[in-house]
Amino acid sequence: MDYKIPRGTYDILPQQSYKWQKVIDAFRKIAAVCGYQEITTPVFEQASLFERSSGESSDVVKKEMYRFQDQKGREFALRPEGTAPVVRSYVENRLDLGGSNTKLFYIGPMFRYDRPQAGRYRQFYQYGIEFIGSDNPYFDAEVISILWNYLTGLGLRRLRLELNSVGCPQCSTAYDTALRNYFQPSLADLCPDCQLRFGQKPRRLLDCKVPSCKQIAAYAPSQLEYLDDACKVHFSAVQDNLGLMQIPFTINPRIVRGLDYYTNTAFEIVYEGLGAQNSLAGGGRYNGLIEQIGGKSIPAIGFAGGFERLLLALDEEEVELGAPGVPDVYVITLGEAAQKLVLPYLNALRGAGIYAEFDPDKASFKAQLKAADHSQARFALIVGEDEVAANQVTLKNLQSGEQQTLPLEPSDRIIQLLKA
Ligand code: HAM
Repeated sequence: MDYKIPRGTYDILPQQSYKWQKVIDAFRKIAAVCGYQEITTPVFEQASLFERSSGESSDVVKKEMYRFQDQKGREFALRPEGTAPVVRSYVENRLDLGGSNTKLFYIGPMFRYDRPQAGRYRQFYQYGIEFIGSDNPYFDAEVISILWNYLTGLGLRRLRLELNSVGCPQCSTAYDTALRNYFQPSLADLCPDCQLRFGQKPRRLLDCKVPSCKQIAAYAPSQLEYLDDACKVHFSAVQDNLGLMQIPFTINPRIVRGLDYYTNTAFEIVYEGLGAQNSLAGGGRYNGLIEQIGGKSIPAIGFAGGFERLLLALDEEEVELGAPGVPDVYVITLGEAAQKLVLPYLNALRGAGIYAEFDPDKASFKAQLKAADHSQARFALIVGEDEVAANQVTLKNLQSGEQQTLPLEPSDRIIQLLKA
């Protein structure tokens, strides 16, 4: 074979797709009962949208973005994440002028030139929520609760919700200064990446995996000590609301999100048992992003999670996601006359929403019965020579072996029998 799938991507094969449908349907359902509507944006955008929003010094923009020029030399990028495109659409479509809250969700592929490993791909699928319009800490809890209820509703138990506040831009600046003061004496001992981070975004130093950097960062000051009064009040109200919703969480002042737009609440859901890629989903507030992208100053909060890691976690916890669909009925015919008689029947059944299988290439009765068994269909609908002569069909329950004859005309009775 000459062609291979690109590294870091995968096919969702037919025998896996029912699992995807199940988790996608569940997400649509929970978003709908919380009043969120689906938004779909293109998979590519102007590259500068991400440079501006995610941050030019972030790994996502610096190392991982798939960039390309179109025929006219314009710079585009495959979207590495969904928040900036949703905000771009919100501003472009003037949804920011309505004055009311906007509740959006999305599902779709994202692209990052990451080093592929279990749970990390170059094309991966995210589910996400963006709530735009209010700074009320109730909405922080609402957004987090959607994620929590989604994951626990699917059957996951070994989850840990980690919560942090990165404060407003003023708190962030004060914290960056504190971090620079802390790291300054060890600057020469930091890895080259961290030396750059020191100048650009010192909080990224807390996320470095190099053991010597980790050691130096061990006693770094905590973000929470640098929150001003308003940010402290907001953070504590978010915690109170989560408590009232009975959603367990732990405070982790070391959560460093990979994207630059966060303000105040930041959170992640970690699943123990996924190895290095244990972050199932993450998000936070981004009160400055809409204005940064050209809209009005409007607060917002959201999250996104990857379906791949979710499915790995469900597998790890041995959660059953049902099974691929089995036919309601397998249609078996013998002879040409029967085949002709059965086609309108088959069409009527499918039109009534009944999953009916039929394979005219299998000529013998035995081969068709074997195929019906193999398909695990509940019923076989048999039209042989006797049935043609009597203008009847035989309906056989393949589990109990019971059978009955019914008139050849498709009737409500048979449809009800097959649907039951
Ligand atoms: P993020 O933390 O970069 O946030 O990604 C969210 C989730 O996407 C991760 O927790 C993980 O499950 C999944 N993910 C990320 N990269 C990969 C990858 N290479 N392969 C597989 N899964 C991956 C965001 O994207 C923000 N837009 C979230 C957000 C929404 N913040 C506010 N609103």
